[in-house]
Amino acid sequence: MQKTAVITGANRGLGFGTAQALAAQGYQVFMLGRNPEQIAQAARQVPNAQGFAVDVSNTAQVKTVAQQISQQLTQLDVLINNAGVILDSANHDLVHADPDLVLKTFDINTVGALRMTQAFLPLLEKSSAPRIVNVSSGMGGLSEMGAGYPAYRLSKTALNALTTFTVADLNNPKFKVNSICPGWVRTDMGGSQADRSIEEAIPGILWAAQLPEDGPTGGFFRDGQGLDW
Ligand SMILES: NC(=O)c1ccc[n+]([C@@H]2O[C@H](COP(=O)([O-])OP(=O)(O)OC[C@H]3O[C@@H](n4cnc5c(N)ncnc54)[C@H](OP(=O)(O)O)[C@@H]3O)[C@@H](O)[C@H]2O)c1
Repeated sequence: MQKTAVITGANRGLGFGTAQALAAQGYQVFMLGRNPEQIAQAARQVPNAQGFAVDVSNTAQVKTVAQQISQQLTQLDVLINNAGVILDSANHDLVHADPDLVLKTFDINTVGALRMTQAFLPLLEKSSAPRIVNVSSGMGGLSEMGAGYPAYRLSKTALNALTTFTVADLNNPKFKVNSICPGWVRTDMGGSQADRSIEEAIPGILWAAQLPEDGPTGGFFRDGQGLDW
């Protein structure tokens, strides 16, 4: 049976690269993006892919797209919660952290992944080997915690908590649910000074998306190597 994958933030950057890589391996890929024209244009460039417009901060839109995709699929094998934003900057310290920006960032980076996981859970449960990849960041790691970007850092720490909560709550060994950090990557978010190309970062995402039955779950990884929380 053809494997299936849903990827958020798939119109550009790491999400687009992951969609290309999974399609090249024969997956049927559902590419989600918040801008209808941009996601349609991106999906046209990927064989075996369809584009769907959804803003992950909009619960109704997430539910609607899950219903639309459910009409086409009997099972979903891979969910990649990749969509993310950095709305603050290195200049935001504790004193200048904007609580509204923190909440807005959480709504996309953290609650967006929760909405997607909730909405696609019935389809994932029908897979014999469901995999959920939460694309996190070392910037959210408690052990790597630094200054600046408070909204982004806190949202990714909470995304890591969503990973471990999902594993505990599902309590189902056929699921593999992990957080990954792609490293510092040359995308619109990472900027041109980042030390990795998209191509170098993709294998670490695919690794988590294609874990074997005896693979890890509830962990935090970069390039398949465990990270401290
Ligand atoms: N690049 C790095 O160095 C780096 C490092 C660590 C972790 N990450 C993580 O990797 C993931 C992908 O980042 P990237 O580097 O590929 O960044 P990117 O090029 O900026 O892409 C971000 C993607 O997320 C989408 N997105 C943002 N808000 C959304 C929303 N409300 N609903 C749906 N989609 C939304 C964007 O869509 P629009 O085009 O519509 O804005 C875009 O497709 C993010 O979760 C990021 O935090 C990146």
